[in-house]
Amino acid sequence: MQKLVEWIDARLPVVTAFEKHMSKYYAPKNFNMWYFFGSLSLLVLVNQLVTGIWLTMSYNPSAEGAFASVEYIMRDVEYGWLLRYLHSTGASAFFVCVYLHMFRGLMYGSYRKPRELVWIFGMTIYLCLMAEAFMGYLLPWGQMSYWGAQVIVNLFGAIPGIGEDLALWIRGDYLISGITLNRFFALHVVALPIVLLALVVLHLLALHEVGSNNPDGVEIKKNKNAQGIPLDGIPFHPYYTVHDLVAVVVFLFVFCGVVFFMPEMGGFFLEKPNFEPANPLKTPEHIAPVWYFTPFYAMLRAVTVNLLGLPAKFWGVVVMGAAIAILFVLPWLDRSPVKSIRYKGWISKLALLLFAVSFVILGYLGALPSTPGRTALAQATTAIYFAYFILMPWFSKIDKTKPVPERVTG
Ligand code: HEM
Repeated sequence: MQKLVEWIDARLPVVTAFEKHMSKYYAPKNFNMWYFFGSLSLLVLVNQLVTGIWLTMSYNPSAEGAFASVEYIMRDVEYGWLLRYLHSTGASAFFVCVYLHMFRGLMYGSYRKPRELVWIFGMTIYLCLMAEAFMGYLLPWGQMSYWGAQVIVNLFGAIPGIGEDLALWIRGDYLISGITLNRFFALHVVALPIVLLALVVLHLLALHEVGSNNPDGVEIKKNKNAQGIPLDGIPFHPYYTVHDLVAVVVFLFVFCGVVFFMPEMGGFFLEKPNFEPANPLKTPEHIAPVWYFTPFYAMLRAVTVNLLGLPAKFWGVVVMGAAIAILFVLPWLDRSPVKSIRYKGWISKLALLLFAVSFVILGYLGALPSTPGRTALAQATTAIYFAYFILMPWFSKIDKTKPVPERVTG
């Protein structure tokens, strides 16, 4: 065995790579539970890939056969129901993990120098994940698949000049049809997963180049021993591999609870109208995206004024796009002398709290039909969302900070 490993390693540096990224990768010793969600996102990614491959074996990507093939998977394919629920619950679990993972980044300033690229790759993953989820949702060819896609693709039509042609190009038809379903299938099953995997590899390579941040926002590489090992670092393997296993067990308990007992999650994970086949002649009473898109959907609907001769719908699309785009430049908005929220002052703490609460309220509003009162609330929370970023260069600078310790605490 030893000889075989040496033989392989002389030709492909497997052992060296394992050491570099696992057994000799020194991670800060003070990780807390917020640091679980990166590994959990990886676990969900693997679940999506494996269950996705098996679903593809029995799924039929045509307007005539898609809905029936999903029913066939649910009723006739052995354990098909389990594969489907693992995949559909996995989609929501992915966003739960990624949102908590991003929030951790906001709290501890993980996006700041020298981790800007880690953050940018993360944001690109997030965009790719949204595209992947959107296209996957068309595949069961239910009412909400159809009308959700119709609403979102039509948004591109609001772009002046090129909009209509762009929407036509995306659909491949004048309305969402089997042609659209076919291309979304190709993108969902082949193209985007490859991009997603490549981005995750880049995300981790960029992270391992600079090293992980931690809840104190202290750079552990500043204090090394004679051998060049960070004094506050511990080898990722075996310490954090075992540590992360605890999170995996807890996560699987919750995840399996949902898969086996509430896979629809009251219409939040699988929407009720999607149990009816797509019907281009019948619009559902209330079209709402799945929960992970609702904050942005609420922002889209919050814009109600026509400006500069362009319709409100166009400005809604701009606001929605800006809400995501602004996250990309976050590393250059934060001017605080400290990274972690632990050592920031009350203004930064209050700002982060207001931002998070606004995002949750937007998510809630986006799932409901709009009323004048709800639109006003969506406008206020959209304003808070943007104010968080736009005012950050100012409030992060004037906010009183606490002294940061030389070494990590705890
Ligand atoms: C498929 C989705 C993703 C996977 C599998 C993934 C995986 C990971 C892993 C395993 C880590 C190291 C462990 C940890 O710090 O939790 C990490 C760190 C990090 N990720 Fe992600 N990630 C994903 C998406 C994102 C997104 C969407 C963002 C932000 C936009 C992001 C930003 C970060 C940052 C800033 C770090 C460094 C954190 C620190 O050192 O404090 N990641 N990621």
